[in-house]
Amino acid sequence: MTITLTQALVEEKYRRYHQRINEALSGCFSAESPVTLYAPARYILEGKGKRIRPFLTLLAAEAVCGSPEDALNAALAVEILHNFTLMHDDIMDEADLRHGRPTVHKHWNTNAAILSGDMMIAYAYDLALKSKTERHRELIHILNHANITICEGQALDMELEEKKNASIADYLDMIAKKTGRLISAALEAGGVAGNATQEQLQALVTFGEKIGRAFQIQDDYLDIMAGDGKSGKIPGGDVIKGKKTYLLLRSIELTSGDDHQLLVSIIDNNGIGAERVNEVREIFERCGVLDETRELIKRETEDALAAIKPLPFAEGREYLKGFAGILVKRDF
Ligand code: IPE
Ligand code: IPE
Ligand code: MG
Ligand code: MG
Ligand code: MG
Repeated sequence: MTITLTQALVEEKYRRYHQRINEALSGCFSAESPVTLYAPARYILEGKGKRIRPFLTLLAAEAVCGSPEDALNAALAVEILHNFTLMHDDIMDEADLRHGRPTVHKHWNTNAAILSGDMMIAYAYDLALKSKTERHRELIHILNHANITICEGQALDMELEEKKNASIADYLDMIAKKTGRLISAALEAGGVAGNATQEQLQALVTFGEKIGRAFQIQDDYLDIMAGDGKSGKIPGGDVIKGKKTYLLLRSIELTSGDDHQLLVSIIDNNGIGAERVNEVREIFERCGVLDETRELIKRETEDALAAIKPLPFAEGREYLKGFAGILVKRDF
């Protein structure tokens, strides 16, 4: 069956599911005490999170069994796990803002952010166990594998900060682990909740790995290029901290002279003053790295679309494709 969806239809479904996910999340972590444990979890989930991963979980179930209904708890588990990683990531990145609000460790303190994050992991697993499926073992294994892989990715991210001769291949390996795996796991979990075959799960995982790569490269792009305040983070936070992103590593290859020297100094000095972010942005604009980055994101997304052709339910499958198209163009 051939179905062609307009972008408006995909956006409408995203809005509807986003709302449903938020309603379900607002019922989580309702315990009053200890307030320094549960309030941070409620706070991070009240932020303007895009809910991309749980949306993918629901769509994956739809693409393999025609309905998202049995995948809701798995979707919530994935989103809570994701928010735990953000809470701890902000401590590691010394980030002051997320979605335009103080990060948890700034609003409370580092220990509250560590402990609340730890509790969120267990909470997520409990929700996964409440899923309407007979395949809990698989579901838990997927979450565990994703969790361990994210930790590997975050460790590689830290190691890359110290490494002077980091390559683009090092960067791509690191983002596959810190970001790609949870996105592919979100899809895989939705597949299991929808009782997918192993071949269908593999198709979902491949799709997720590719859009996950595109998504993190876009995150790095927006970190410095997002219009005023749109990222809700400190603009250029990655270059300030000397993060080896695709933009930085590739533009070092593309430049010479003073521009090249300035970019290399970001690596040598483990970062650059916030007052120089504009200069770095201008170099990115003139050296051609932005076009290359957009091209790479587009290529990864096209490969992703090819991977899910075998999924049996056309409507869910087309929504997955349509949403991948929205993610490539995102400026949020
Ligand atoms: C942020 O993920 C961390 C990355 C892997 C880039 P999102 O950009 O999906 O964050 P939320 O869920 O919208 O807060
Ligand atoms: C975060 O990557 C990945 C995880 C949370 C595992 P980033 O550090 O780039 O994410 P942001 O930019 O803070 O959201
Ligand atoms: Mg971060
Ligand atoms: Mg980080
Ligand atoms: Mg980032």
